[in-house]
Amino acid sequence: MQLTRLVYASHHGGTSEEALRDIFDRSCKNNANDGITGLLIAGDEDFLQLLEGGRTAVAECMMRIMKDDRHQRIRVLLAGESESRLFSQWSMRCLRAAEIPLEIQDRYWVNGVFDPVQLPQAKIEGLCLALSEDNSDKTPEMTG
Ligand SMILES: Cc1cc2nc3c(=O)[nH]c(=O)nc-3n(C[C@H](O)[C@H](O)[C@H](O)COP(=O)(O)O)c2cc1C
Repeated sequence: MQLTRLVYASHHGGTSEEALRDIFDRSCKNNANDGITGLLIAGDEDFLQLLEGGRTAVAECMMRIMKDDRHQRIRVLLAGESESRLFSQWSMRCLRAAEIPLEIQDRYWVNGVFDPVQLPQAKIEGLCLALSEDNSDKTPEMTG
């Protein structure tokens, strides 16, 4: 199987715990069936999501996500083939941006704000890599 990795950002303008829980539950169930793993960061205004898996599975998942009206202004930031998974232990690692360790925030937040569309490609890759190596979850029930 050729592994594909896709990272996008989108705008939600404020998401509830209930909505995040629903997204998380569906993601875990579907992604486990579809061989997809990844990361979802929920900031105050924006999402950043990394999906990794087979090319068709990732494309079909992305098509569903694009139709979801719980977010808008979806922008693909990175997409391509990949040698290995970053989040192989997580159907979808789900984090609130505010819960991310401060040393990671210091490196990747723009003027103290989680603003993924402002980040250059190397910083997107660095943030995802840092979170794949970080084990400091404060919400273990939402790690998938
Ligand atoms: C920010 C965001 C991220 C999402 N991530 C995923 C995901 O990784 N996998 C998934 O199946 N659905 C994801 N969804 C939900 C899909 O948009 C859609 O609601 C869901 O796939 C429908 O699944 P169902 O037919 O099992 O209800 C996401 C939605 C949002 C708003």
